[in-house]
Amino acid sequence: SAAEKGGYDYFMLKEIAEQPKAVADTLLGRIDPSGSLTLDEVRIGAAELREVDKVVIVACGTAFHAGLIAKYAIEHWTRIPCEVELASEFRYRDPILDGRSLVIAISQSGETMDTLMALRHAREQGSKVLAICNTNGSTIPRESDAVLYTHAGPEVAVASTKAFLTQLVACYLVALYLGQVRGTKWGDEIRDVIRDLSRISGAVDRVLETMEPVRELARSLAEKNTVLFLGRHVGYPVALEGALKLKELAYMHAEGFAAGELKHGPIALIEQDLPVVVIVPSPRGRSVLHDKIVSNIQEIRARGARTIVIAEEGDETVVPYADHLIRIPATPTLLQPLVSAVPLQVFACELATARGNEVDQPRNLAKSVTVE
Ligand code: G6P
Repeated sequence: SAAEKGGYDYFMLKEIAEQPKAVADTLLGRIDPSGSLTLDEVRIGAAELREVDKVVIVACGTAFHAGLIAKYAIEHWTRIPCEVELASEFRYRDPILDGRSLVIAISQSGETMDTLMALRHAREQGSKVLAICNTNGSTIPRESDAVLYTHAGPEVAVASTKAFLTQLVACYLVALYLGQVRGTKWGDEIRDVIRDLSRISGAVDRVLETMEPVRELARSLAEKNTVLFLGRHVGYPVALEGALKLKELAYMHAEGFAAGELKHGPIALIEQDLPVVVIVPSPRGRSVLHDKIVSNIQEIRARGARTIVIAEEGDETVVPYADHLIRIPATPTLLQPLVSAVPLQVFACELATARGNEVDQPRNLAKSVTVE
């Protein structure tokens, strides 16, 4: 009913709007006043976490993209090797696991059969399983050794939005916590990032306030057949997620690429007026990546692409090459997905509406897939 949708036309719009609160709620009570993390729910002891020599993340769909982003954070802050795998591929290749592997199963519903079967397989090999889940008491957390709940509240729209952002928050918390427990050389950075994370909900809010041009752009592209997405570093999984949203909602051909791969194939797809969304990393921090992406934008634009550039506020280098420029607040590089994913959700939702599609219930999809 209209009341359930809180005055929005679709649950998806309501859930997009709820993201600042969902992010804040997921952080609530987990950062103590001294600025360190207390994750009491993670009932795997510090001694055991110090022994972990490999992290393996399993998930499906949007949760898989959260896992891909988590890998960058986990490896950077903990120096523990981390693999991310689609749950449906995982157990059938007989993965190498033992008691020192920490398996993280990410699932909004906690009922996805592929993810459940992957975690059962991991436990059979003696690995500890930590669930990141949005649904209290669901099967995946019940069968795991520990659970870190995301506090997004119920997500109704099939296309995941607020659950995705809170999965990212939970992944960052786990990465920072592992770094904290194990004591890495990034101690100072970890403290700074915890502080930045505690303010990130305000940044998400600011993104939401500036979305009208994105909606307008989406409507202008309603007749297109293809949209490509390019990103690098954590922007690469964001590109994959942007493309997935467009497939799910707009039923358009959409693909995400690692920007560095452009020259190894995808650049052949560029033709006159093809919309290409590019997620630009911060010019601060890993500035080499930033400069490489800017030359990618120049290359595709020279070949006729219509460039839709998502870049940090104050980044002026992209201005001459952007047919459309979407601004996001400055964040530490690893946290950027929390703000860069939001315009892509709005973009896909508006394109779906413009094409006359059912936003909350896309054809052929289910919110929770309980068969393998
Ligand atoms: C389905 C949904 C996706 C979701 C995926 C994983 O395919 O349509 O939106 O990302 O399942 O769901 P989970 O509940 O495990 O996060």
